[in-house]
Amino acid sequence: MSTTLSALLSARYGKNLPHLDFELNSTLETLLSHKSIRHYLDKPLPDGTLELMIAAAQSAASSSNLQLWSVVAVTNSERKQRLSELSNNQSQITQAPLFLVWLADVARLENIMKADNLDPQGLYQLDLFLIAIIDAALAAQNAVIAAESQGLGTVYIGALRNNVTRVSEELQLPEGVFPVFGLCVGYANPEKKIAVKPRLPQEAVLHKEVYQANSQAAAVDSYNNVMREFYEQNKMNVQGNWANHCSERIQNRAINSELQAFLATQFGSK
Ligand SMILES: Cc1cc2nc3c(=O)[nH]c(=O)nc-3n(C[C@H](O)[C@H](O)[C@H](O)COP(=O)(O)O)c2cc1C
Repeated sequence: MSTTLSALLSARYGKNLPHLDFELNSTLETLLSHKSIRHYLDKPLPDGTLELMIAAAQSAASSSNLQLWSVVAVTNSERKQRLSELSNNQSQITQAPLFLVWLADVARLENIMKADNLDPQGLYQLDLFLIAIIDAALAAQNAVIAAESQGLGTVYIGALRNNVTRVSEELQLPEGVFPVFGLCVGYANPEKKIAVKPRLPQEAVLHKEVYQANSQAAAVDSYNNVMREFYEQNKMNVQGNWANHCSERIQNRAINSELQAFLATQFGSK
């Protein structure tokens, strides 16, 4: 192994790194080295990559083993171009040889129930929608780790929910199927150097026994300093600190009323 656990933790946390006395293994190395890739080589994936990723995805836990998710694999250039246009023109979608759209999918179970003359109404409640979203996210993240373990890069694309109706039309999604996010998969362009992005100190996210709101402010301050250095080192034009940046993103975010309407028609009680 060409690195150490403490080197990986240092990249992930900056000066806030926890000191952990564990042997580094390839699973930890893959997990701790994650970085989103937004520039890809024009190079095909090895045969079987998609199926390997799906096997990893299907190995994730699934609530009650309902398996309320599906995925559409898109490789057609014109379709990727249209999906890119529907996702704020993000060019990584057209660059990557494979674009996966992860779906919360209650339609399959609805069909099973209807075939048994059962009323599928129970599928259309908030809890089931959440289960389907959670299942899709766990499956996708397993697929990401499988791809990264093979030296591939990925980036999630949540922006496709900006145009959820047109994305659903493009992919011919039936009722009861919701596109949760996309995922670009490909070989990272080595000319674009990407650094591992630090995360909040563990004190901000890890609460022992009960939620501890008091430990948050100091941890966020410390993270702001780590991220200021990260922005400088990576020549990122971020105004203010991480906390300001997050707040502004939320304040300036337009309400996605199309999404609300879509969910009401596709996932509302029938
Ligand atoms: C659900 C989800 C949606 C995302 N959507 C986008 C997106 O539309 N475009 C993009 O460039 N990155 C997107 N990302 C990637 C995040 O920006 C990225 O994970 C975050 O900045 C942390 O960087 P890292 O993944 O390199 O550690 C998304 C990530 C998640 C988990």
